[in-house]
Amino acid sequence: MTAPSRGLADVVAASTAISDIDGLAGRLSYRGYDIHDLGGQVSFEETVYLLQRGNLPTRSELDGLTEQLASARDLTPLVATFLPGIAGRAAPMEALRSLLSLVGHDDPDKDDNGAGANARKAVRLVGVMPTLISCYEAARTGRDVPAPDPQLGVAGNFLLQITGRTPAPEAVAAFDECLVLHADHTMNASTFAARVCAATLSDMHSAVVAAVATLKGPLHGGANEAVMRTLESIDGVDAVPGAVRDILGSGQKIMGFGHRVYRTEDPRATHLRRLSESMGRLAGDTRWYEMSVAMEQAVMAEKGLYPNVDFFAASVYRSLGIPTDLFTPVFAVSRMAGWTAHVMEQHADNRLIRPDSDYIGERDRRVVPIDQRG
Ligand SMILES: CC(C)(COP(=O)(O)OP(=O)(O)OC[C@H]1O[C@@H](n2cnc3c(N)ncnc32)[C@H](O)[C@@H]1OP(=O)(O)O)[C@@H](O)C(=O)NCCC(=O)NCCS
Repeated sequence: MTAPSRGLADVVAASTAISDIDGLAGRLSYRGYDIHDLGGQVSFEETVYLLQRGNLPTRSELDGLTEQLASARDLTPLVATFLPGIAGRAAPMEALRSLLSLVGHDDPDKDDNGAGANARKAVRLVGVMPTLISCYEAARTGRDVPAPDPQLGVAGNFLLQITGRTPAPEAVAAFDECLVLHADHTMNASTFAARVCAATLSDMHSAVVAAVATLKGPLHGGANEAVMRTLESIDGVDAVPGAVRDILGSGQKIMGFGHRVYRTEDPRATHLRRLSESMGRLAGDTRWYEMSVAMEQAVMAEKGLYPNVDFFAASVYRSLGIPTDLFTPVFAVSRMAGWTAHVMEQHADNRLIRPDSDYIGERDRRVVPIDQRG
């Protein structure tokens, strides 16, 4: 038995036609399209279609998907019953994990893993995600959720419903680009969790609950919230280099930096840096962008590490008026597109995912009766 790769680094765990990363060149593509080509050119809805169905949609295909997403928006009966209680006591990612599980109970295709049922569930899951989060936010803050605006797509309506304000067109475009940039990323931890679950022939809702539970951790999706809290704890741009040295000196990691696969700039960070600046200007406060740039320089100087997707996303979301503890749920709204595509791909050509382990414990021990144990 060969020694395991710690954290399965460099292990190829699945074949996929959904997304691809070249970690040395800093390239990411969805279904063969470079993220630099997609970002700012296609909408989140087009990206959902691309990831779930394999091609960019025609105008009429996009219209069909937009309609299906809109009709999946409403809370299902069980979710509507339990959401207020959950919002009263659970943190956002805990709530999302529970609510998604409830969404599964009400789905008419819940026990069917066939291609048609999976395709329908995949769209419904993407459609309901923004509602789960905006209704959670409304319930915990005691306000009503604004009615969706038919002129706005997923990004615009989500911003409207989280913040309670009609978003500026530039904000909608920026947020839409954020959703595109986060939609899939090969065999990241949450996608892997979803595929492991799906490979037992469990259903799509169970698989995405596993994914949300995995995204929650601060080494994965939870990093974007941790980035904002780090920035907030620092007293202005000039204090950034000292704060970076202090964090590193105390043996902690700086959230939003480093990556298992990229050895150069994460291509998503390139776009998010630009959006951080433009959204800071739109909000009339570029402080978070300036501090982020100072932190990027300090971390590069001290550790030679590049920012990952979570780093500049934090200041973009802050400038868009999104509460910090909803940053990871926002990531989940986008990544639902990728998770569902991966579950469909797994079910379409399935084999149980069951790796081996390297036993390092004691061997050949003898059981001593309980009264004789010292
Ligand atoms: C993303 C991440 C989990 C990848 O982890 P990994 O591939 O297992 O890499 P490791 O944690 O083993 O890190 C390798 C080395 O770089 C250092 N390092 C990695 N990321 C670091 C960070 N953000 N801050 C400081 N040091 C870091 C580690 O301390 C380690 O140093 P050592 O070899 O001297 O012990 C890791 O970079 C990290 O924890 N980043 C912060 C959390 C984050 O932003 N997550 C979002 C990812 S998109």
